[in-house]
Amino acid sequence: MIEGQLNADERGLITKAILNAPVKPRVALEVGTWLGGGSTLHILRALEQNGTGHLWGIEADRSIYERMLTNIRAAMPTAASRFTPLLGFSQDVLKQWKKEQPADVTVDFVFLDGGNNPREQIEEFELLDPLMPVGGQLMSHDAKLRKGRWLVPFISRLDNWESKLHDISEPGLFYAKKIALRPSPQSLRAAKQHRFRQACQPAEIAASCLPSSVCSFALRLLPKKFSRHLSDGRD
Ligand SMILES: C[S@@+](CC[C@H](N)C(=O)[O-])C[C@H]1O[C@@H](n2cnc3c(N)ncnc32)[C@H](O)[C@@H]1O
Repeated sequence: MIEGQLNADERGLITKAILNAPVKPRVALEVGTWLGGGSTLHILRALEQNGTGHLWGIEADRSIYERMLTNIRAAMPTAASRFTPLLGFSQDVLKQWKKEQPADVTVDFVFLDGGNNPREQIEEFELLDPLMPVGGQLMSHDAKLRKGRWLVPFISRLDNWESKLHDISEPGLFYAKKIALRPSPQSLRAAKQHRFRQACQPAEIAASCLPSSVCSFALRLLPKKFSRHLSDGRD
């Protein structure tokens, strides 16, 4: 057993999405591997069971990244041929990754579970969505917390994605499947308007304008329950 997050049902849903895809995913990308025993290992095992597919897994924290590499090697010695770990922040790594791929690369499966700032999942989605074909699947964790607070309503409003929030844990798991290449102009407008209203909330304005050291200092001054609610959306 190696350390990982996500409960058994969430791990099962990731596995099923990959095993039951009508076209077996060839390219899978995840943001936020943590120690590897949660999403990373389960995506890799499902790809292995399919007999095809490669996972690129992004992790921002160097010490966690090193431990994740050791863990994955121990838990799945055959993973080396299916797994490329990438160290760095998703926004930078994804841009670089795109540059290194063939111009016609498609991304069939995406799992987003990186930082708590809701802006990050939106940025990751905006980088990856143009590469995802019809039938491409996207899942994200902490869908009910601050991390997913912008992405979940954004994709839910786009009429070229079918989506569902699995309310099977406190953080929540979001699933979306692309059903058309582009959204209608009306649904895209509705999604953007909603996101704009969310970005105008005072706490989010403060989070994007103030240096993170100032935000951390301010959070430390608040009662623990309230600071947890503001920083990661937990009650
Ligand atoms: C909640 S954990 C991921 C849990 C993991 N998916 C699992 O199933 O066990 C979030 C991870 O994302 C990493 N992270 C945070 N922001 C990131 C970013 N912008 N890019 C890549 N990784 C990030 C953190 O260092 C942390 O290891």
